Amino acid sequence: LVDRVIAAKLLRTKCRFAAPGVREDYSSTPIDVVADVKTEKIVVLGGSGFVGSAICRAAVAKGIEVVSLSRSGRPSYSDPWADEVTWLAGDVFYARWEDVLVGATAVVSTLGGFGNEEQMKRINGEANTIAVDAAKEFGIPKFILISVHDYNLPSFLLTSGYFTGKRKAESEVLSKYPSSGVVLRPGFIYGKRKVDGYEIPLDIVGQPLEKLLSSVENFTKPLSALPGSDLVLASPVNVDDVAYAVINAVIDDSFFGVFTIEQIKEAAASARV
Ligand SMILES: NC(=O)c1ccc[n+]([C@@H]2O[C@H](COP(=O)([O-])OP(=O)(O)OC[C@H]3O[C@@H](n4cnc5c(N)ncnc54)[C@H](OP(=O)(O)O)[C@@H]3O)[C@@H](O)[C@H]2O)c1
Repeated sequence: LVDRVIAAKLLRTKCRFAAPGVREDYSSTPIDVVADVKTEKIVVLGGSGFVGSAICRAAVAKGIEVVSLSRSGRPSYSDPWADEVTWLAGDVFYARWEDVLVGATAVVSTLGGFGNEEQMKRINGEANTIAVDAAKEFGIPKFILISVHDYNLPSFLLTSGYFTGKRKAESEVLSKYPSSGVVLRPGFIYGKRKVDGYEIPLDIVGQPLEKLLSSVENFTKPLSALPGSDLVLASPVNVDDVAYAVINAVIDDSFFGVFTIEQIKEAAASARV
């Protein structure tokens, strides 16, 4: 179904009709029907990163035009899908947004990370706030943010720059894009992370853990009310599921708001069909 929706969005059809029984008469005025369906073009902030590159790859597979912005530009690996992406090298704090965002139908931000307090507030919070404001200013209809699950932690433990930055970015998305903004809150994301030409197979741990937690879900559910329990119990998410949840958000205009780990997996399943 999703493929058909994308195909419909990619097609710009012009048809001519004549009423039945009416002979072809070139002097009569034909009815022109123009199906003005938009094509999708996404800008992935951090498309060269672990999650960003999975999003770029999934979008290319679905026929969506992709631009990535990151300081390092095009990654070194030579997978064929990477040739289909427009790789821009630039810092989100100094971006020429009019060039980056031209023609985009959605911005997807994977900006975020760890460091000292100041650095975490800056990359998780300020960088995303700047991006949301720029997207809004340039009339981009949709903004999708990769945020993070709160692990059911008590609020006094959510005061680090990482979480406060994430929540600041989330409120910016939801206030500037109340009816189209998307916030995905995954926990641990597994897959093959490429670092300096090497692959770190996070799936060796992530995949079995995801299966194990899902098989004992009925027993562990009552524990989820305990503060911090999700540090152990939150299900890991495959990086491709995060990517396909993003694709679902790009093509389905009824998909907006904040999405939990389980909802990310459901959205991914419907986009993969
Ligand atoms: N990995 C996980 O398990 C996990 C779990 C939950 C949530 N998340 C969230 O998911 C998001 C993506 O995580 P990830 O693991 O994919 O991180 P990552 O591999 O470090 O990717 C971050 C991307 O952002 C780019 N970037 C950083 N600073 C930038 C700047 N100033 N201007 C432009 N681009 C910049 C990086 O490229 P350059 O360095 O070349 O600029 C890179 O492409 C983050 O927000 C993270 O908090 C991750």
